[in-house]
Order: sequence, then structure tokens, then C-alpha cells
Amino acid sequence: MSLSGKKIILGITGGIAAYKAVLLLRLLKKNDCDVTVVMTGEAEKFITPLTLQALSGKPVLRDIFSDAEHNGIIHISTASEADLVVIAPATANTIAKIRAGIADNLLTSIVLATRAKIMLAPAMNRVMWENSATQENIEVLRNRGFIISGPVSGFQACGDNGTGRMKEPQEIFNDIMAVLQGPSVPPEHERLLAGKKIVITAGPTVEPLDPIRFISNRSSGKMGYAIAEAAVAMGAETILVSGPVQISPPAGVKFISVNTAQEMHDAVMNGISDADVFIGTAAVADFRAASVSPVKIKKSAQNEELDIRLIQNPDILSRVGHSEQRPSVVAGFAAETDKLETYAIKKLKDKNADIIFGNDVSDKTIGFNSDQNEITVFSKDGRIIPLPKSSKKELGFSVLRLIAEALK
Ligand code: C5P
Repeated sequence: MSLSGKKIILGITGGIAAYKAVLLLRLLKKNDCDVTVVMTGEAEKFITPLTLQALSGKPVLRDIFSDAEHNGIIHISTASEADLVVIAPATANTIAKIRAGIADNLLTSIVLATRAKIMLAPAMNRVMWENSATQENIEVLRNRGFIISGPVSGFQACGDNGTGRMKEPQEIFNDIMAVLQGPSVPPEHERLLAGKKIVITAGPTVEPLDPIRFISNRSSGKMGYAIAEAAVAMGAETILVSGPVQISPPAGVKFISVNTAQEMHDAVMNGISDADVFIGTAAVADFRAASVSPVKIKKSAQNEELDIRLIQNPDILSRVGHSEQRPSVVAGFAAETDKLETYAIKKLKDKNADIIFGNDVSDKTIGFNSDQNEITVFSKDGRIIPLPKSSKKELGFSVLRLIAEALK
């Protein structure tokens, strides 16, 4: 399916990332979308309506009271015709207004007056993003069915480095494709997990030694993110708890970003209370420093050797498996270089899991940073099922089909 003729309202609010909305508009136009640009007054301080008018081929809508042609009800007519409203960038201020139902400009009025799906691409300073007011607003909007695309981590215009950057236009475009085309779910998997809640861990954890150094594991997060994407496509409410990775969370997940194993553990324990499924794909660091130095550890003639005492992190999969709030299906991964079957079966028992997905990571063409994987499934009932080598995306669906079976 193409996006040809899809009616998209592109809302632009006043943030430095507004210039990237121009590139998003170009991508949408290149794919034959019918785009109406709506700008807030603040957005006009960053980019000119003329640029957007030239690229969209239509007047840019800015003022709720100015369009006589629509008899003053421009927001209702524009809103009712749209297939999707995308606000990129969405500032903390606009997000807060939308959460509260405030309609004090054309864009926020359209948001209130539309029945179309609404996607927000937040962009703001990392401290504003982390602020509990913003986090709560996002949580509420997500639960109301808004699609939250980003933000991602990286350098920010203000000089900070952290989560708050708007996703790149191509990534937002990909999310728009996924929403408008519907998830590309193989027909046999469709809605297999509707009404189910799944918590997934992914990526590495990062355990600080001092303010600069850390210990971590190799993990791209690709397998866990692929499972999360498939879970959303199959209708599940999906919580993705992830350590730092280079890829963007799939649209439609509730995304919780963490660094340490302890943070991942706490987020998971909060999330599993009413969950049906837990899948641990994260490469959790088994150990952390017994004490983290508050200052940078310096080398000197006196410390040619350095001892760092490590203590064990909680085993999240095992804690979930043995928890009183244990979800009906608990699954984990075993990445091994040898004796895969022996270790996987031991993990099933030790962690009280229902399914262990085994990976032979000695094969360089699969696992870790690869887009491909090959999995052997070890089930509590003794079954051993090989899933042949294929893309992590396809395997995401296969993994969840087995989980859906186990839920029956
Ligand atoms: O014991 P091992 O690390 O080999 O087990 C791997 C499985 O256990 C993975 O599913 C991983 O996500 C999970 N795990 C965990 N917490 C740990 C260590 C591993 O959840 N501290």
C-alpha cells in the first residue's frame, strides 16, 4: 500500500527542531501525501510559512479566526478530513496543553476536534523531557491512544547531551508509514495478542565505575526491539524497558529508558503487576561495582594494578519467574558460545521460566549486532523447536506466536 492521497496535517510548534519538519514535509510530499501544514505562532519564529507553503503546495494554516472561506470553522473541517495528525516538533508546552484539552490556537483546536490518529514527535531539552510533569503528560496521552514517536538521545541544541532530540525526519516518516499502512503483520499473526500486556527488556545495562567509566555488555537491542514491534503489531499493550542503544523505539510501545540493572529491575517489577507476559532479551550486566567512585579514578605510579570489587546485580528474569506477580508466560534468552542445550535447560529451571530462546553467539553471522538470528526454543514441557535463520523482525513474530500458544 502506498501513502498516495493520504490526508496528513503536519503541525509544527516552536522548537529548534522545527527546521527538520521541512524535511519531513518533503518526504511526505515525495510519497504523494496531501499535507496541510498548521503552524503555531512560536513555530514561525523558527521557520517561515513561505517555505512550507512552497513545499506543501497549499497555504499554511496559522490563525483560527482568519479564514473567512471556512466560515470560521476551519479547525473542524480540517480536522475531520485528516487521516493522521503529526506534530513535529511537539514542544513540552504543546504536549501539556493537549493533555489538558486546551485549544488556544489552531493546532491545539484541531487536535481536540479530530477523530484521526495523532502522532507526537517530542523535542525539548533533556531536563524538560525528564521532568515529571512532561513524563506524566506523555503517559496520559499514550494511554489515550496518541502515538509517541521519540524523542531520542544525543546532542542537543542547548549543548546538553541526553534524551530529548526529535527523531530524524526519515524515522518519523517510517513511523507514519507503519501507522497509516497498518502493521505489516503476517495474516496468521494478526491480533493474536489483543488485550494482552507484555513487558520486554532489551539492550545492555551500563554499570558506572566512576563518573566517566562503566562496565557493560555487547548488545544492539535489535532482537528485543523487533519483538516489541511485533507485539504492538499483534495487538499487545507493550512496555519496552531498554538500556542505551543506537536504534529508536518502535512506534506504539510504552518506552522506559534505563541505564543500570537495578533501574531495569525496578522498572520491570513496576510493569509486571498486571502483565500476561515477560520476555527478557536484555544483556543485563551480572555485576556492578560495589562502590562507585564519586570522582574520576586516576592512574599513578602507586596503582599499577587496580582492584575493583564487583557485586552481583539482581537477575531480573529469575526475580520475575519467582515473583508473586509472575505473569502467565515468562521467557528469556540464552546467548551461549557452547553447550547451548545444557545451559538453556538449566536456565529454564533456575529462573523458573516457561521458554528459553537459545542463541549460538559463536556464529558471527547471527546474534549481537546482526540483523539476522537463529533461535532454538527450549520449552518447559521439554519441546525443543528450531527457528531457522531469518531476520530478527520475522523471528519477533515467530517468538510471539509461540508465546501466544503458551498463553492459551
Ligand atoms: O543467566 P544469563 O545471563 O545467561 O541469562 C540470560 C537471560 O536472563 C536473558 O533473558 C537475560 O535478559 C536475563 N537476565 C536478567 N537479569 C540478569 C541476567 C540475565 O534478566 N541479571
